[in-house]
Amino acid sequence: MNILVINGPNLNLLGIREKEIYGEATHDDLEKFLHAEAKKLGVRIDVFQTNHEGAIIDKIHEAYRRKFSGIILNPGAYTHYSYAIRDAIKAVDLPVVEVHLSDLESRENFRKVSVIREVCDAVFMGKGFLSYREALEHLVVSHADQ
Ligand code: DQA
Repeated sequence: MNILVINGPNLNLLGIREKEIYGEATHDDLEKFLHAEAKKLGVRIDVFQTNHEGAIIDKIHEAYRRKFSGIILNPGAYTHYSYAIRDAIKAVDLPVVEVHLSDLESRENFRKVSVIREVCDAVFMGKGFLSYREALEHLVVSHADQ
């Protein structure tokens, strides 16, 4: 099983940005964590971070072409308004799991809206890095045949 993790805008600034919300750990730490968890679960992962909407869409298309088993997607603020990312998820026949480090339900009103949720397989949020682990476990349990 091979899984693609896509992290969107400003997640490269983990460890610098709003530490009271996102914590002290960096994106490098997140990558190391993800590789260690994937190894434990016996799956292959690729991790990609970009600050650009189109690059997220291109990666979703690429995951489909390269026959990945699923995608873990944290689109950052694009979560709240990118119909283009929603359309890309809908276009490909791949399970996509929405992930957030913070709990969107307890933050500003605009963050309570996710325009991608309806087209995602599941959502995990509010647990920092552990949200990603839950997403990995979800894909492994629900889509082990892919
Ligand atoms: C985020 C939440 C978004 O609202 C925000 O714009 C981010 C990060 C999270 O992981 O908690 O950039 O997706």
